[in-house]
Amino acid sequence: MHRNFVPVLLVLTFGLIASPSFANHPVNISDQAQVKLGKKIYQENCATCHGVNLQGPENPEDFGKRKPPRLDAKGHGSHHSDQVHFKQIELGSRDKSGKLIDGRMPSFHDVLKDNEIWAAISYIKSHWPKNMRMKQIQMSPGHRHGQDRKDSSHHMKSKGHMH
Ligand code: HEC
Repeated sequence: MHRNFVPVLLVLTFGLIASPSFANHPVNISDQAQVKLGKKIYQENCATCHGVNLQGPENPEDFGKRKPPRLDAKGHGSHHSDQVHFKQIELGSRDKSGKLIDGRMPSFHDVLKDNEIWAAISYIKSHWPKNMRMKQIQMSPGHRHGQDRKDSSHHMKSKGHMH
């Protein structure tokens, strides 16, 4: 048997066993069709605020105190689970009473279908290196989003902080 054969077999076997359970998880960056759909959704709905390359807004001065965060590998997207990101996109930025906050992120509930939101998340995550995706998995899904914090400045810092 060739040296390379055993690892290849293992990968194939693992892939077959693993795929049914993975199918329940809506975000799959190995699914090229999903990432491609996500790219379209993102570029049409999100890029004006979060940047065509996910690097944050082109003209930050167009935004108020709370700038749209970068969503690329230098951002802190890994601090929040896919589910938290989904909620942020579905509901937008709301205050404690649930009212949308003017000038922040709009709600995409009536604009995008669920699978389009998951696809956008998939596209975003396809820009993250593996260690960043691993880190996200380790974060607890119940992690609170920072949007209801008084201190908004932490959103702009891209590195070296935890919350
Ligand atoms: C009008 C500008 C605007 C648009 C359009 C917009 N966002 Fe946002 N987004 C924001 C702001 C501002 C925040 C920070 C949250 C806050 O301030 O309430 C944010 C936060 C987020 C977060 C959370 C980031 C983190 O690290 O916690 C994600 C994910 C996100 N947006 C994805 C998207 C996606 C996907 C779209 C398109 C479907 C989109 N946004 C469209 C302004 C925008």
